Amino acid sequence: MFRASLFLSLLMFTIPGQSASQPPAEVLADCILCHGTDGRGNEPVAAPRLAGVEAWYLERQLEAFRMGWRGSHPEDDQGREMRPMAVMLDDDLLPSLAAWFAEQDTPDPSPTLTGRPARGAQLYSLCATCHGTKGEGNRSLGAPALAGQNDWYLARQLHLYRNQQRGHEREDIYGQQMLAMIGPLVDDQAVLDVVAYINTFTE
Ligand code: HEC
Ligand code: HEC
Repeated sequence: MFRASLFLSLLMFTIPGQSASQPPAEVLADCILCHGTDGRGNEPVAAPRLAGVEAWYLERQLEAFRMGWRGSHPEDDQGREMRPMAVMLDDDLLPSLAAWFAEQDTPDPSPTLTGRPARGAQLYSLCATCHGTKGEGNRSLGAPALAGQNDWYLARQLHLYRNQQRGHEREDIYGQQMLAMIGPLVDDQAVLDVVAYINTFTE
């Protein structure tokens, strides 16, 4: 037993780039309580899909909650549900949790919102410069994939940016870059339209 675990831990330290170890089951169980089976997203508690989301982005968002860049605004009730979860994690759990959820493969979520995709396509031309023409994301720009995310969550995040409840901190450089791009989404209808267009990427 001892030998085997020693061997395994040596292995983890000696293979560069090897994904982090399996996160503890009891921590995963907490996450899944809100984020749904395999992290597929859970609308009743507004917890988004984590399954298949890029590990670098998940890890950065956990950091953002810990720093209070997300989930600290008094009116951001959902962010305030998540923040204590991120704060209580040991530092070394962040990479392994991010890697675990990134590896989960669950069916694409079904659309829940309706908007005008044709109008959304026009609005999306700006978004595509960072998030990619099919919402595939762009790691070098720090912009996450949007395709395959829960539409109610995308809409909610866009409202958070519109109300400056996300991206408001100067040190949050990626959040600030996104905040600077929210201008064209002038009202609720524009948010619904652009999200309706993003929904077409996974049809
Ligand atoms: C009490 C419910 C709850 C629990 C437990 C919970 N979360 Fe969350 N989580 C949320 C909610 C709600 C949001 C969305 C917040 C928002 O809208 O800004 C969220 C957002 C996130 C995000 C941001 C995703 C993105 O695309 O930006 C990550 C990453 C995340 N959670 C990871 C975790 C992990 C890992 C765990 C387990 C350690 C966990 N969560 C436990 C409710 C929860
Ligand atoms: C200049 C590049 C850039 C442009 C243009 C841009 N974004 Fe972003 N967007 C980002 C970055 C970077 C983030 C990640 C912010 C963070 O790490 O907190 C982001 C985050 C988001 C999120 C949150 C996703 C999540 O899972 O939490 C949504 C939704 C989003 N963008 C939608 C849009 C839409 C819609 C447009 C067009 C109106 C747009 N973005 C234009 C760079 C951009």
